[in-house]
Amino acid sequence: MELQNSGFEVVIIDDLSNSRIEVLEQITEVTEIKPEFHQIDLRDKKAVYNFFNENKIEGVIHFAAFKAVGESVQKPLDYYENNINALVYLLQEMKDRNVDHFIFSSSCTVYGQADKLPITEKAPIKLAKSPYGNTKQIGEEIIKDSCKAYNMNAIALRYFNPIGAHESIKIGELPLGVPQNLIPFITQTAAGIREELAVFGDDYPTSDGTAIRDYIHVVDLAKAHVKALQRLLNKQNKENFEFFNVGTGKGSSVMEVIKAFEKVTQQPLNYRIAARREGDITSAYADTTKANEVLEWKPQETLEEALLSAWKWQQKQS
Ligand code: UD1
Repeated sequence: MELQNSGFEVVIIDDLSNSRIEVLEQITEVTEIKPEFHQIDLRDKKAVYNFFNENKIEGVIHFAAFKAVGESVQKPLDYYENNINALVYLLQEMKDRNVDHFIFSSSCTVYGQADKLPITEKAPIKLAKSPYGNTKQIGEEIIKDSCKAYNMNAIALRYFNPIGAHESIKIGELPLGVPQNLIPFITQTAAGIREELAVFGDDYPTSDGTAIRDYIHVVDLAKAHVKALQRLLNKQNKENFEFFNVGTGKGSSVMEVIKAFEKVTQQPLNYRIAARREGDITSAYADTTKANEVLEWKPQETLEEALLSAWKWQQKQS
């Protein structure tokens, strides 16, 4: 929707494995422009080939990937097969047809537990803690090598923790089954779908003992993609592969998020302290100076606004 609002003609490819076709109607209701849609699994080489034959594409934003950290530990080959093959096939087609301008959904997971906070883009890439995290690291490497060899231009956006729903409350997050992420678990608990929220650990070396993350409103995140694409299309990029942190720069503990949620929604939340979740880090929040200065992008929405939008979205579901 942010691309459409900025005048781009958008073509969506999705296999609908973790999304619903009705989203297209919801986008159309908000923007009054129906995006073209192709149901394609990016691992289907022939389908990707045909798609590029039939469509004149100026740039690609590659969001499609499996993203559940815990599941990736159980099913590593599914994650490598999906996240890596899809990326490689896409880049191959782009290279073969001289389609330039590639934006990649990367993650702050590439930094692991950074030694210095806030995390700048100069922080070293740590050994990945999960196959999911590894696919993001390997993905960045594949893009770096491709940019160098084929003279392509790409930007990786390293997302911190995206949350919230569009202000129209027509587009939001719909996790399949039991949510793994904090915010959908909170909203489902407040809605009575889940009995209680387990707070994973209160013995971290933080001010209240719970883990700290940088929660970024998904619409602010979307706007960063528009800026990144414009940077490539306008040939403003300084290197042919650049990367940017996309967060708010503010860290919030799990307890702070719970309290903020209770305050803005006036909903008491049923929670209990549980053991730490395996693989979780203590603290991650972004230094966003590079995105602020180079992309000329700054997040607008507060944690409270993002939580309220997530709650309104949840209420519409139940
Ligand atoms: C993880 C990944 C991130 C990925 C995202 C998407 C890492 C370091 N981060 O984010 O790259 O994009 O998943 O799936 O691999 N929590 C609870 N109770 C719950 C759920 C979560 O206390 O029921 C806590 C977690 O322990 C954590 C915080 O809430 O401290 C945020 O968790 P979550 O929303 O799952 O995101 P990350 O694990 O930070």
